[in-house]
Amino acid sequence: MRQSSLVVVANRLPIDDSVAPDGACEWRRSPGGLMSALHPLLQHTPATWVGWAGGTGPAPDLPDVDGVRMHTVPLTPEDFRDHYEGFANATLWPLYHDAVEQPEHHRRWWEAYQRVNRRFAEAAAEVTDHGGVVWVQDYHLQLVPALLRELRPDLRIGFFLHVPFPPPELFMQLPRRAELLRGMLGADLIGFQRAQAAHNFAQLVSKLFGIPATDRQVEVDGRTVRVGAFPVAIDTAEMAALAARPDVAARADRLRHDLGDPDHVILSVDRMDYTKGIEQRLKAYSELIADGHVKVRDTVLVQVAVPSRERVGQYQILRDRVEREVGRINGEFGRVGEPAIHYLTQPFDRAELAALYRIADVMAVTPLRDGMNLVAKEYVAARVDDTGALLLSEFAGAAAELSQAYLVNPHDLEGLKQMLLTALEADPRDTTARMRAMREHLHRYDIRSWVRSYLGALDDSGSLLRSMI
Ligand code: UDP
Ligand code: G6P
Repeated sequence: MRQSSLVVVANRLPIDDSVAPDGACEWRRSPGGLMSALHPLLQHTPATWVGWAGGTGPAPDLPDVDGVRMHTVPLTPEDFRDHYEGFANATLWPLYHDAVEQPEHHRRWWEAYQRVNRRFAEAAAEVTDHGGVVWVQDYHLQLVPALLRELRPDLRIGFFLHVPFPPPELFMQLPRRAELLRGMLGADLIGFQRAQAAHNFAQLVSKLFGIPATDRQVEVDGRTVRVGAFPVAIDTAEMAALAARPDVAARADRLRHDLGDPDHVILSVDRMDYTKGIEQRLKAYSELIADGHVKVRDTVLVQVAVPSRERVGQYQILRDRVEREVGRINGEFGRVGEPAIHYLTQPFDRAELAALYRIADVMAVTPLRDGMNLVAKEYVAARVDDTGALLLSEFAGAAAELSQAYLVNPHDLEGLKQMLLTALEADPRDTTARMRAMREHLHRYDIRSWVRSYLGALDDSGSLLRSMI
């Protein structure tokens, strides 16, 4: 078994076995912030990515992609149901997002979570060089750091949570809360998106284990576990270059023309997820039309809502409700050839997204809770002429950095309507000043600076970073 000195462990591999029937693999960037964040890092680094290839059969043997080795961890149908759909996406996901949907608890799901985490830890132990660095990602794999430390005490182990980490009163609802925290404490460095999350974590550790913990470090079993906020970033220059490409500009012109050359285009791009505030946004938009503040002929909403976790009940219910509401709004307010909402559920590639970002006069990103929200950052990066308005939920991690956005509380329907109108009618000098400031921020804090700050903190010898950058 070949070994690497940098190993990323994430629930998903960045490629899908279904796209490689003839052995020719390409990066498949499945919609999701984790993939978008790690893709640029690994494209130029000799590393191994340990993850699941998407099916429930035996692990396919995948070839290297751009020099990165794909090490597949198989999931059985029971693992898929109880670990991925169950504990990860019907217990932890809703709980970590303010319990906007009710988290479910089943003992069978917890058993599967332990079993699958052990399998990932064993895979990581097998493929990492002596003294190497393992970077474990996200809520599906919170037990891996401690399990891996038992197997391989020689490794530097990092853990990064892409989603919010909840306040103690919510986390304490979890029947296996202590085990989950202990799993994370196996890491040398635990990274969160926001400082508040690191604070929540420290409070929980003190409360549950009675050990001294600060927002920066915890002393456990004679080791120091460092804790901190590392807000995830994007490849700003790459998105800007993509948006400026002549073919993308031509595609944007075409899209605007196909939309009927409206005065204003509002765009939203989400996974179909109840955390994204899609229903609240549709309601605000339809009320603005009904009130006469927005005219369908002049203003259109393009809503991309890529289906996600489709067998989980809460996601099925959401999709049904969204589609009924889009149908109602279009039926009530649209005309032949002039729908009020252009509703799209297919996943788009980067170039098509960049063209969409280019035509969006207002980008409406209004999640009820979000770890970061990279779509908001991508929109800003794509606005190379400093035009356009970003309407952004206060409850997206991105709001902590993009304070010049038009910030809004998505639970407040009247406030949401008002801020949408404000963004639509804003003075171009105001939007330009805001956009310029946000773009500067994203150029300074881009994906390379994120990787440098996280891996620099994890690997104090600095040798890993020197070999990468
Ligand atoms: N995305 C994509 N194609 C689509 C829709 C989304 O590639 O059709 C990407 C988008 O560019 C972004 C990511 O999926 O990089 C979504 O990340 P975000 O942090 O906004 O939300 P998440 O899905 O991780 O909750
Ligand atoms: C979020 C999570 C990621 C996940 C992605 C897509 O970004 O933080 O861990 O990969 O959503 O969700 P999926 O369930 O399709 O992997």
